[in-house]
Amino acid sequence: MNIKEQIGVLNNPFKLPCGYEVSNRIAKAAMTEHLADSTGLPNERHFTLYKRWAKSGASFLVTGNVMVDKGSLEGIGNVVLDYDQSTQRFKIWADTVKENGGQLWMQIGHAGGLSISENSLSPSGIQHIGRVRTFPKPNPMTQKDIKDVIQRFVHAASVAKECGFAGIEIHSAHQFLLNQFLSPLTNTRTDEWGGSLKNRMRLLLEIVKAVRKAVGTGYPIAVKLNSSDGFNHSGGWTEDESVQVCSALEKGGVDFLEISGGSYEATPMLGPQDIENFAERREAFFLEYAKNVRTLAPSIPIMLTAGMRSAEVMADIIESGIVQVIGMGRPLAGMPDAPKKLLSGELDSIPRFYGESLPVMEQLRWFQKQMELMANGHEPELNMTQDLIDVEKTKWNEVYTRNPEELPWFGLDIPVEVEDFLQQLNKGDLMVITGCGVGDTVKIVHTKGFKNVIGTDISSVAIEKAQKRFPGITFKVASTQEVGSKENIHDVNVFDWLNLHQISTDRLDTYLAGLTSIAKNLCLVWIYDSNEVESNKSYTHEGNIYYHNPVIVKKELKKKGLSIKKEFTFMFSTFFNNVRREHVAVGQIYAKQ
Ligand SMILES: Cc1cc2nc3c(=O)[nH]c(=O)nc-3n(C[C@H](O)[C@H](O)[C@H](O)COP(=O)(O)O)c2cc1C
Repeated sequence: MNIKEQIGVLNNPFKLPCGYEVSNRIAKAAMTEHLADSTGLPNERHFTLYKRWAKSGASFLVTGNVMVDKGSLEGIGNVVLDYDQSTQRFKIWADTVKENGGQLWMQIGHAGGLSISENSLSPSGIQHIGRVRTFPKPNPMTQKDIKDVIQRFVHAASVAKECGFAGIEIHSAHQFLLNQFLSPLTNTRTDEWGGSLKNRMRLLLEIVKAVRKAVGTGYPIAVKLNSSDGFNHSGGWTEDESVQVCSALEKGGVDFLEISGGSYEATPMLGPQDIENFAERREAFFLEYAKNVRTLAPSIPIMLTAGMRSAEVMADIIESGIVQVIGMGRPLAGMPDAPKKLLSGELDSIPRFYGESLPVMEQLRWFQKQMELMANGHEPELNMTQDLIDVEKTKWNEVYTRNPEELPWFGLDIPVEVEDFLQQLNKGDLMVITGCGVGDTVKIVHTKGFKNVIGTDISSVAIEKAQKRFPGITFKVASTQEVGSKENIHDVNVFDWLNLHQISTDRLDTYLAGLTSIAKNLCLVWIYDSNEVESNKSYTHEGNIYYHNPVIVKKELKKKGLSIKKEFTFMFSTFFNNVRREHVAVGQIYAKQ
């Protein structure tokens, strides 16, 4: 096929079994955005990001996984569509895409045993202890829990339809709950939901049936399914079984299947992560599997995602009749109009980005960082590479040696959530900023017109340094020393302290006593590595228990009469000991009343 023919193939519309017309053959695959705050609602940042993608040229856009249960989050910042959720923002989300020429589909999912939440649910209560991440031990699901999950999918799908989403995709891949039911590694039940393949696929089929009943025959329902677990060892979810599920889904009236594979532990969907060869990597990671699906499920449309980059390979695959739609994820995070460039012939292939060479968690963060930049109205930063990091290192050292005042607050502006909150306050209010980068954070708040700003830290050295750098602002030590203990046991340099980002239970008591006596509004910005937040890690050192979990901090503060007014997450990078690291910061704003 010459390039003109390829473009013709990719631009050729086709109809799904329900009658929905797919305007061209490239769609945006789901990528979890991690942009929501603790309400779980889509916000301005989602709207800005998706407005951009609405013009991407993709025939439709699938959202990142929207969780059907607020108790089963896959990560901090998930969008949640639970029963008590207001639906207005979902409508704005779908409308924003429509008004800008796109079609928005909602991916609905439940993380099951891969949830970061305590008391999560999974088929058999098997804890996921992994090489990459460890999750809290889930509870095995009762019959009632299973019925409840079915209803949750129905609820989310119905709301999606009501709010103007063009279709829904049920997430049954990547070892999330529905995949956990399918796999004999995670489903060891002996009732009608476990054991034989027929039993293990029952939940997925029941959900499809119930959702179809709720949304009617003309509304598109897709399922994202794993070809296999991606593990080398035996006993897991295999292609043979997966193909049989595809056949059952075809009979069950699903409009298309999106094919994927793997989980956090084994990530065939992201391809091999080796820096040397990633640019020349083969495309279409799951094509062989798609061919197998065709033998047992001859008519169901297939969306093939993972690794697709060139118009030539895409057009060949579509022409073969095996696959009807090409899904693209990472290309749209780095190049938001990638589909348009392929469909118009401006590019014949989308380049692989540096982020694709990184190990899984770093890779996800690299791409999420690109989405976050766009969500904040900026361009992706494709040059976030090792080279850039090295250049930054030199620049950073120079600046810091010359004048510490120029040191940026981790290179980031104050997060938009803090700003929003500040706008609501009376400018004369007393604010205490604590928990991270006290000097720079307080300086930012101060320059925004807040006069009575006091910055605190548990380290007297940190406070001395901050005071020297910003003499016009008041800083106080709120530590064991300040509230009468013999010594300031946490007497460390502010920058070292940032690396420790920890507070012990006994210090928390005295620390808070100091803080709450001077603060009306208290803004805590806790910094954690996402791994730490998500693993609920705590450890003991010299008799103190250290927590890396803002949920526990929240509990402790509640006992002190401080209630949370706002909570949010954001990504930022720190640069310490010559190493740049991406972090998740968790901001919590508390007020006494
Ligand atoms: C940052 C990121 C987030 C993702 N989130 C989801 C998700 O929420 N749901 C899902 O089914 N797949 C998710 N994926 C997988 C993608 O949908 C896709 O299968 C994968 O990136 C491979 O396709 P690509 O080579 O076109 O990127 C995610 C991938 C990335 C990189």
